[in-house]
Amino acid sequence: MRKNIVAGNWKMNKTLDEGIALAGEIQKLLKNNPPEDSGVIIAPPFIHIAKIAGLLDGNIGIAAQNCASEPAGAYTGEVSAAMIRSAGAGYVIIGHSERRHYYGEDNPILKKKIEMVLENNLIPIYCCGEILEERNNKDHFNVVKNQLNDALFFLSPEEFTGVIVAYEPVWAIGTGVTATPEQAQEMHAYIRGLIADRYGSEIAGNTSILYGGSCKPDNAAELFANPDVDGGLIGGASLNAEDFTAIIRAF
Ligand code: 13P
Repeated sequence: MRKNIVAGNWKMNKTLDEGIALAGEIQKLLKNNPPEDSGVIIAPPFIHIAKIAGLLDGNIGIAAQNCASEPAGAYTGEVSAAMIRSAGAGYVIIGHSERRHYYGEDNPILKKKIEMVLENNLIPIYCCGEILEERNNKDHFNVVKNQLNDALFFLSPEEFTGVIVAYEPVWAIGTGVTATPEQAQEMHAYIRGLIADRYGSEIAGNTSILYGGSCKPDNAAELFANPDVDGGLIGGASLNAEDFTAIIRAF
């Protein structure tokens, strides 16, 4: 069966010392009262990864927030999937809407990044989601379908097994406007259907699909109660250990 997962995307927040403190607090809160039902991942900035990996006891996974689309070489400022792996991360967030919109990452670039992630035995957390205008135009299903088709569904069934998908409606990210449980369930069921069409129902049934966008301690339970919502990709609320662990306990 698929796993419930709560992942915290710290984005460009926390100095190294602050990040170490936050990771330590999360670990302590979870140790005192271990979650029964869910995997936990944190995605700190690149420069925090090696240090935090050395401090965690293995019950919390570490993700990078991005990786280079090339394996190595003269790409000033980039960080390769191999480097991420060597620093101690096991996951990489690919295709976050902030990367798509602020840094021009389109589906062909994201496809190359997915290849890099897989080649380095990392697990992608692949983000998809529509902007408000696309939803208002009733184009949201098509947008998500294209994002999956163009950058993810080129993987073979073997490669796809274990991939994590995150549905993050852009209009809900950092806005305080959360998708309703019905909207989340509708899109998650649609995504699972697309995975089933491409890879079969067994793989689709085993794929964790996370919801992201203003997910907080007070709305996590109603979102996670939906049959196709397998957890969350949390931004703002993951920067506070109490809030983040409260969301982890919302299953
Ligand atoms: P917020 O939880 O701050 O809305 O961010 C969601 C997100 O973008 C996680 O990747």
